[in-house]
Amino acid sequence: MDYLIRPLTQEDEPFLWRMLYEATQMAEEGDLTIEDAMNHPDLAKYVKNWGFPTDMGFVATLLSTNQPVGAVWLRLLTGENKGYGYVDDQTPELAIAVLPEYRNQGIGTGLITHLLAAAKALYPSISLSSRSSNPALYLYKRCGWKIIDGSDTINRVGGISLKMKLDFD
Ligand SMILES: CC(C)(COP(=O)(O)OP(=O)(O)OC[C@H]1O[C@@H](n2cnc3c(N)ncnc32)[C@H](O)[C@@H]1OP(=O)(O)O)[C@@H](O)C(=O)NCCC(=O)NCCS
Repeated sequence: MDYLIRPLTQEDEPFLWRMLYEATQMAEEGDLTIEDAMNHPDLAKYVKNWGFPTDMGFVATLLSTNQPVGAVWLRLLTGENKGYGYVDDQTPELAIAVLPEYRNQGIGTGLITHLLAAAKALYPSISLSSRSSNPALYLYKRCGWKIIDGSDTINRVGGISLKMKLDFD
């Protein structure tokens, strides 16, 4: 699969909503739609008004058609706006998704590798929240994230989620 990775722009916000829908695993919950993610304030804050100066993200597009197939992004969510993966005011939270038909071909790893190279100049660390049952945990561990002890919480669907953090130093 030949693809390019480029920075996300404000024009990519519609695709980011689709990616949020996948990243939150709402896409696997049956009758939920992208609009349900957009209307859920605790989820929408990961994407809404994409393009703040502290936002950073990348999109993978197919070389053949330019179609976007995956994205990874960081956002600083602090104060009243803290996200599920909040650890401190300097650490942005990561979100990532690849369209189902393009998974397990290395695109997620490629996106994270690209993001880490760019983010280490700007941020001391990157956190995230993941369901404990999500196989994405293996990907995160492979890329350098560590589970934060005692961070387990009950999530939106009644399962267990935990926080992970990657430190650059
Ligand atoms: C997580 C995700 C972005 C990985 O993208 P990808 O392009 O498939 O990733 P790669 O091909 O580079 O690597 C595959 C890795 O993903 C992991 N993985 C994540 N979800 C998986 C799934 N449903 N089935 C199998 N493997 C999965 C595998 O463990 C594998 O890691 P490994 O190589 O160490 O075994 C993609 O699976 C996805 O979009 N999942 C749904 C959204 C999601 O869960 N996002 C994270 C929320 S915390």
